[in-house]
This record gives sequence, structure tokens and C-alpha cells, in this order.
Amino acid sequence: MYDELIVSPRVLLGPGPSEANARVLKAMTTPMLGYLDTEFVQVMGDTVGLLRRVFGTENRLTLPVSGTGTAGMEAALANVVEPGDAVIVGVKGYFGERIADIAARCGGIVTKVETEWGTHIPAEKIAEVVAKVSTPKLVALVHGETSTGVLQPLKDAIEIAHQNGALFLADCVTSLGGQPVDMDALDIDIAYSCTQKCLAGPPGLSPISFSDRAVDVIRNRKTPIQSFYLDMTLLENYWHGEKEKRRYHHTVSISLIYALREALRVVLEEGLDVRYKRHVHNARALLAGAKAIGLQPAAEEGYRAPMLTTLRIPDGIDDATIRTRLIADYGIEIGAGLGVFAGKAWRIGLMGESSNEKNVMLVLSALEKLLIESGHRVERGSAVHAASHVYAV
Ligand SMILES: Cc1ncc(COP(=O)(O)O)c(C=O)c1O
Repeated sequence: MYDELIVSPRVLLGPGPSEANARVLKAMTTPMLGYLDTEFVQVMGDTVGLLRRVFGTENRLTLPVSGTGTAGMEAALANVVEPGDAVIVGVKGYFGERIADIAARCGGIVTKVETEWGTHIPAEKIAEVVAKVSTPKLVALVHGETSTGVLQPLKDAIEIAHQNGALFLADCVTSLGGQPVDMDALDIDIAYSCTQKCLAGPPGLSPISFSDRAVDVIRNRKTPIQSFYLDMTLLENYWHGEKEKRRYHHTVSISLIYALREALRVVLEEGLDVRYKRHVHNARALLAGAKAIGLQPAAEEGYRAPMLTTLRIPDGIDDATIRTRLIADYGIEIGAGLGVFAGKAWRIGLMGESSNEKNVMLVLSALEKLLIESGHRVERGSAVHAASHVYAV
């Protein structure tokens, strides 16, 4: 026999999952219902209504697909991209690469707009590439690039896509619930996210939304959607079908949908604007403290995502030693660098529930102590001192 499952307490300050809200975890213990039970259908309706508010959209085709953020990415691309379609993908980090990879697997002819890791993609660069591609079908950008901590401006890129007759897709896996997505106001055609970052739920669902323009593109496909599981026309019947037209597609995760419904209630109870400001404020304090102990931001100024701060690892400091001791001594998880930033930067997530003053002070004091013990020369107490100034105003 194995022992009962008991895990050590952790402070989750990595790239996700972040801390799940206690009300969300409690909602998951709600008894099972059948996937077509009228009471569960009501829960589905509530969840979609709440999701639309967080996405800032009235799109009918809004729902959580089963699976993590990557399932949303696959769903977005598999439904819209047909073999031979021209797809333009902004690549400024690891997740832009993933979009390009999946778009190519869908048969898309992918053109990348690349910039250096840690920087945003300027609109002019996107315009230049789009102009060279004949009949682009889709322009895709990652909003919050979790590998670099860059928050990509979307507005101009959306206009460029539409002026050239293309749909616009935004990966909002890291941004939704932490910074404004405003789908309708910005005219984003497709956006997807996850539940385990700024929505403060467990991983397992990927909220996604398609504009009417994107739905028309799906309905007018020449080839069938290759994926059965992620076929939005089938999922639409299950999630949005009227009475007898609502049909079984697959057994959705009942408990995760309870969780998402509660997570969205928590988000909207706090208020979107208050929540966005909280993320900005805590990120500002974290960065002030980090800079005070010589940890420089790896993301370009003016384009830093408040939910994920990347910090360059100082010369002579061993990445793994510090992260291992953060876990062992304090139970704090921070993220290792990915791709180009592997071994060169840390990724500190302040997402959803995890974005609070207590965590900022804790991670700064722990980092400062461990850095000093590794031979990094800084004045003791300076990280917390700098952060507390931010909280004092
Ligand atoms: C920007 C971005 N897109 C996509 C993904 C993939 O999401 P998941 O790991 O939930 O499948 C992630 C995961 O961190 C991400 O940060």
C-alpha cells in the first residue's frame, strides 16, 4: 500500500500553476452531476456567462475546452487553419514557437515575425511581414510571453491583420484575469487561456472564444477539422445547443467546470480593474526589491508583464542551487529560465491568488539571503526595504 497523499506546502511563484483559491478547491468537492443533467447545464451556462465577462466579449462561441492552455492553442489553430493557409506568427519566445509549430502541423504555411527574447514585436515589423504574404489567413501573437515576461501590445497588430483580410489570434494563457484582454473592444477574433495562472484555479481547462468572423471562417472550411476532440462545431452543440440539440460530445471534467465557475466568480467579485491594478502594484514592488539586490529585469522596459517578472541571474551565481534552496528552505517555487533564458534568468510569477504583498516580501527576503550566502555582495535588508517603499505609497 502507498500512504495517503500528503504534499508539502508550497508558495507557487513560478510560471504556473499559481496558488488555487480556497473557494475554488472547495467547489471541486461538489458532488458529481451527469454531463447533461439540467443542473449541470445551468452550471455550464453560468460558466460561459462569467467567462464572457472576463474575456470582455459577447461572442456566442465562448467555452472552456478540456485540457490545459496548449489544448486551447490546438483548438484555435486546428479549427481555423487548413492545409496551405498562410499563417503569420509573432515569435518572441518559447510559446510563439509553439504556435508556429502547431500551425505548421495543421498544414499552415507559417511565416514568423521574430524578435530577440525579452523584447516585444514592433507593429511595423508585423506590418512589413504581413504585406509580403499573399492572402494571409491568420496573424497570431502571444499576449503575455511567459518565457520572457514580455506583455505584447495587440492593438496595432489587430488592425494590420484585419486590413489584410486575416483573422487575429491572441494567446492569453498568462494574461487573462491578470491584465485586460478586452476581446470585443480590441476586435480580437480568437483568444484562449488557461485556468491555472491568473484565474487561480487548477490546471485542466482552456477557456476559448471565437468572434463571429472566426466562426464564419470555421463554417466555410473546405476540409474537415482534423481533430474530433477539439472540433468547435461539435463542442458548440454540447455547450450551446438548444434543448434536444444539446448533445454529448465527450465527458467533460465536471469538477474542473465547478472550479472554473467559482474562480470566475472570485475574479469578478474582486473586480477586473482592481485585480489588474493589484498585479501591477505587486510586480512593481517585486522589481524594486530585485533591483536593489542587483537582479536586473530581462524584459524590455515599458513592455513588462506584471504577472511574470524575468530577472537576470548575476554572474557567479548558480541557478539550480538557488532554486533548490528556495524550495528546500522556504517552500518557494520560482521558475527556471526557458529556451534562450535557460540558466540565465529566473521567472517569478505573481499570478492571481499568488500576487500579494506577503509573497513579494517573502521571496525577496529569501532570495537576498541565499544570494548573500552564495557570495553575492549586497547590503542585507535592501530588497525588502526597496519593496516596502513601493507599498508605503
Ligand atoms: C503563453 C503560454 N501559452 C501557452 C502555454 C501552454 O499552456 P499549458 O502549459 O497550460 O498547456 C503556456 C504555459 O505556460 C503559456 O505560458
